[in-house]
Formats: sequence, structure tokens, C-alpha cells
Amino acid sequence: MRFKQKVAIVTGGARGIGAETARLLAIEGAHVALFDLNEPQLKETADSLRIYGNEVLTFIVNIKDRAQVQQAVQQVVAHFKKVDVLVNCAGVLKDNLLPNMTEEEWDCVIDINLKGSYILAQAVEPYMVQKRSGKIVLISSQAALGAKGRVNYAASKAGVQGITRTLAIELGPSGINVNSVAPGFIDTEMSAVSEKFSNKRGIKNFQKVKQEMINSNPIRRTGKPEDIAYTILFLASEQASYITGQTIYVTGAP
Ligand SMILES: NC(=O)c1ccc[n+]([C@@H]2O[C@H](COP(=O)([O-])OP(=O)(O)OC[C@H]3O[C@@H](n4cnc5c(N)ncnc54)[C@H](O)[C@@H]3O)[C@@H](O)[C@H]2O)c1
Repeated sequence: MRFKQKVAIVTGGARGIGAETARLLAIEGAHVALFDLNEPQLKETADSLRIYGNEVLTFIVNIKDRAQVQQAVQQVVAHFKKVDVLVNCAGVLKDNLLPNMTEEEWDCVIDINLKGSYILAQAVEPYMVQKRSGKIVLISSQAALGAKGRVNYAASKAGVQGITRTLAIELGPSGINVNSVAPGFIDTEMSAVSEKFSNKRGIKNFQKVKQEMINSNPIRRTGKPEDIAYTILFLASEQASYITGQTIYVTGAP
């Protein structure tokens, strides 16, 4: 029970990697506050977590909206008197090749994936500094290294690594660790979104490309949400208290 009586905010907690992270945190004793836009899915996920016996709060929050984020974080602190862990899993894709990438698609992805990470970190920082402890885990991506049709997404996820390193330096003296996880291809509903966008990325047969990727992956499979969630839990735990500013690639490959 590494998270007994700990309070964790998980954004994007309604489904996918966020929901799995919240589930593992709840199993290990944490009270969790889920931030997401998808109200019905949020309610369903929260109900499924209550069987583990800890408190589960839900907040309809758009993570790119500073006022909404600050208000929700304040409500979490008013209720639990603290926040120990922030995991920012909310994220989006809006793929297109450079000639077709619109400013709206660029802004949407940068605002949610990159600006959202800064807004969330800024919102929890005073409470973590006050008690001189905290763990922040952000989600980058293998796409940070470059991904066709994803100039916006790659920039946002590379930016997350810059935020991670910078906040590790700024917040380390206050007892706060900041790290990120960079997943490879993980089977979630985002992968279905990815398939929908594949034409726009110049990919004609998504399933064939996926199979080729699996065949060339040393572990010979795509990732599961729990592959990422277990890594997040380690980074959010006291076991990782001497690790900060790092990005761990969880891709099934070196
Ligand atoms: N699935 C993958 O292959 C993969 C690979 C690399 C990185 N990632 C990253 O991992 C994270 C989680 O991905 P996932 O696969 O679980 O995605 P997902 O689409 O299954 O879940 C994302 C969740 O975030 C929520 N969300 C989106 N925008 C939001 C906003 N503005 N405010 C609040 N909530 C919002 C959605 O409602 C959804 O519940 C994302 O940051 C994603 O970029 C995923």
C-alpha cells in the first residue's frame, strides 16, 4: 500500500491510461480526484473505483482552462487538506501533414497537452511547496522524437520534457519530484483516434503498419494502459524520491 492516505489528482482519468493509473492508485490506498471533460465516462470510472474503499471525487475540467483547473484543485485541497500526487494524463491528437496542418489543430494540441501541463503544475505547486513534498508525473510520448503528421503533437510532447526538467530544478529544493513517462503505441481509445487520422498522416493501411510495428518491436506487442500506469505509480511513489527531471520511455524497445 504505497499510497495509503495519499491524495492524487489524475487528469484524463475517465478512460485509458488515466483511468488505469487511478485504478492502481486506488488499489494502493490513495484517495483520487479525477479531472476530465467526458462526464458520463468519468462517472462510470469513478463508480468502478469506489469498490477499493477510498474516496473518489470527480471534476468536469478542461485542463487548458486555468480558472477551471484552479477551482478544482482548490476544491480537492478544501476536501482532503492536501494534494500529494499530480498525474497529468489528459491529452489529444489532431494529426495532419505540414501543408494541411491548420492553426486551430496546432493551437488545440499545444493548449491541451503543453499549456495544460504548465497550468496544472502551477495550480498544485503552492500546496506541495507548503508541506515540502509532492510528486508530479507528466505524460510525454515517443512522438516527442518525431512522428509523421504530428508536428503539433510532437512539439507538445517534447515541450512536456522541457517542463519536466525545468520544474525538477525549480521544485526539487521544495521536496517535489517532477518526472514524465513517454509511452509508445498503447492500445486505448486514443489509438482508435490515431487510426481515424491515419489518412491525414499519409498512412494508407493502418492495421498493416501497426502489425509491422509489432513485428519489429523487441517485445512483439503493443502496450497496455497498465504498462504505463505501473511506471507512473513508481515515479509517484517514495521509491522514486531520488529520481527527478527524467523522462522514462515505455515503448517495448530501447
Ligand atoms: N495511447 C497511446 O498510444 C499514447 C502514446 C503516447 C502518449 N500518450 C499520451 O498518454 C495520455 C493518455 O492517453 P490515452 O491513450 O489514455 O488517451 P485517451 O484518449 O484514451 O484518454 C484521454 C482522456 O483525456 C481526456 N481529455 C482530453 N482532453 C482533455 C481536456 N482538455 N481536459 C480534460 N480532459 C481531457 C479525455 O476525455 C479522455 O478521457 C495522453 O497525454 C496521450 O497523449 C498516449
